[in-house]
Amino acid sequence: MGKIWAVCSGSGGVGKSMIALSLAAGAAKAGRKVILLDTSGAARCCDLILRLESIVTLDMLDVLRNQVSMESALYAVPQYPGLHLACASLYDDVAVSELSGMTLSLNALCDVLVVDLPTGQASLGRGVMRAGDERLLVTRPDDASIRAAERMMMCCTGEPAALSLVINRASAERVRKKTQYAQSTVENLLDRAALACIPEDPSIPAGEMRGRAAIECDGPAWTALSGMVKTLLAGAST
Ligand SMILES: Nc1ncnc2c1ncn2[C@@H]1O[C@H](COP(=O)(O)OP(=O)(O)O)[C@@H](O)[C@H]1O
Ligand SMILES: [Mg+2]
Repeated sequence: MGKIWAVCSGSGGVGKSMIALSLAAGAAKAGRKVILLDTSGAARCCDLILRLESIVTLDMLDVLRNQVSMESALYAVPQYPGLHLACASLYDDVAVSELSGMTLSLNALCDVLVVDLPTGQASLGRGVMRAGDERLLVTRPDDASIRAAERMMMCCTGEPAALSLVINRASAERVRKKTQYAQSTVENLLDRAALACIPEDPSIPAGEMRGRAAIECDGPAWTALSGMVKTLLAGAST
């Protein structure tokens, strides 16, 4: 069994997909066999960013209900050798817990299974995540996002997998203008040190428009994203 890195958040639009895709591409570039499972349903975007939207025709619901083989719903990502994409259905809402058997099967096929979870969801179903797996809770440094993150942390108590905080879209200028909290304030409010603090970086959406994961950006977010992959691969975030 490989490791699971599940990316979650309490509020939407905070950068889950950007981070999930970066972790998956980064681990693949480091030579790992990686599957990225996008469970965001109608909000799914990893296929779009990777320019695979026209070839991803089978999803995990087809595997679950229509006896399609798991392999036929796994799509190689040409720009990142070693990375395959699997998607939950775009049209049918399926609880992530309904996919738990499949998640375990996917996990058996790779070194790292990265899961892009729907907003507000922290669990992959009972018994799927174990000690050594990682749950990455993403928040922006603002009140609404922090409060939603706090609620997610409450849902995760007692789970065996580690829960690491990731702050995204940090901007020193906004902190100076008092329109955003500093990293230390977010850490104090959530009573947890951040695994990473990713700066606001305009090269991220620009790169995504060209089919590249943010970990390949040429802006300030590169250092934080690469450091996060290294830490997770070393299994040393906790
Ligand atoms: N650090 C960042 N700097 C600039 N843009 C970002 C950053 N993180 C995410 N974005 C952009 O914000 C938007 C929402 O991010 P996304 O990953 O889709 O959020 P979520 O999956 O949580 O809904 C995307 O257009 C993404 O490119
Ligand atoms: Mg998303």
